[in-house]
Amino acid sequence: MKILVTGASGFLGTRLCGSLEEAGHIVARLDSKNCDLAVASNLDCYNGSRFDQIFHLAAWTRAGDFCLTHPGEQWIINQQMNTNVLAWWHRCQPQAKLISMGTSCAYDPRLELVEENYLAGKPIESLFTYAMTKRMLYAGLLSLHQQFGLTYLHLVPSTLYGPGYHTDGRQMHFIFDLIQKILRGKAYGEPVVLWGDGYQSREVVYIDDFVRVASRLSIDCENDTVNVGAGTEFTIRQFAELICEYVGFSADSIQYDTGRYVGARSKCLSIGKLRRLVPQFGQVPLSVGLGRTIEWCQNHRS
Ligand SMILES: NC(=O)c1ccc[n+]([C@@H]2O[C@H](COP(=O)([O-])OP(=O)(O)OC[C@H]3O[C@@H](n4cnc5c(N)ncnc54)[C@H](OP(=O)(O)O)[C@@H]3O)[C@@H](O)[C@H]2O)c1
Repeated sequence: MKILVTGASGFLGTRLCGSLEEAGHIVARLDSKNCDLAVASNLDCYNGSRFDQIFHLAAWTRAGDFCLTHPGEQWIINQQMNTNVLAWWHRCQPQAKLISMGTSCAYDPRLELVEENYLAGKPIESLFTYAMTKRMLYAGLLSLHQQFGLTYLHLVPSTLYGPGYHTDGRQMHFIFDLIQKILRGKAYGEPVVLWGDGYQSREVVYIDDFVRVASRLSIDCENDTVNVGAGTEFTIRQFAELICEYVGFSADSIQYDTGRYVGARSKCLSIGKLRRLVPQFGQVPLSVGLGRTIEWCQNHRS
């Protein structure tokens, strides 16, 4: 197949493009350097190609408290990117299936995190703008499908982890932040201070598991939204203990800063639909995935 991937240089995009190319597909890799999606005309150079699939992964965001401090820019840039990609899809690539990425933080944390609730209630305040741009992306897919019959798939991943994460010093998703802090604590004797009381819980999905299931769903499933989670969550303390065990560092010396931003207390996607669609979806055990991620982080320190 001929596949266009936006956000191809990102954590997920790099892994997805590699896997698609390995499977024999022809992949056009777009990132902010070769195609700034905030400028609609930048997509014109792809008008002459006929793509079978468009994976729209590009998003302007960061982990940590970035969303708290950049809501205005996030609204403008992400709305521009999403609108430009969807308008171009409709105008120039109506034959392509568009596969987009949602976010678990688009859900109202007071409701069950099941697909029917994606647009219900209100996302958590600290991630409100980012979450709403993802909801609007989904609303765009629904609208273009309804009026023009375009084909889409909206995937909602939990936090992804594994080798290949950013090393440019930007704020990291919690699991990489934990690993880096514990590695530095072990290597340099730096105090390991984690945000919150450590009892907030999270789930993680191994990046290659996500790529595998996303590729599968991109063929088998259409005009739907599907959560892709692990189905089990762990507290930050449990993640920290597993990492300490692997690294050989005492978990007792970890300090918890209860004054810092922690986001939602709990975030675990309902994955009943995923299980029905891909009953044989096996995930790498957490201890194995963490081991691979720690090894990678040790060799690629920022
Ligand atoms: N990682 C996770 O745990 C996670 C969880 C849930 C959902 N998601 C979603 O999955 C997608 C991929 O996540 P990720 O972790 O791979 O993100 P990422 O590493 O931050 O990558 C973002 C990508 O978007 C591109 N981009 C940013 N601004 C752009 C612009 N103006 N024009 C064109 N491209 C632009 C970046 O290009 P440059 O490299 O050139 O800046 C990069 O390729 C995102 O939509 C994200 O919301 C991720």
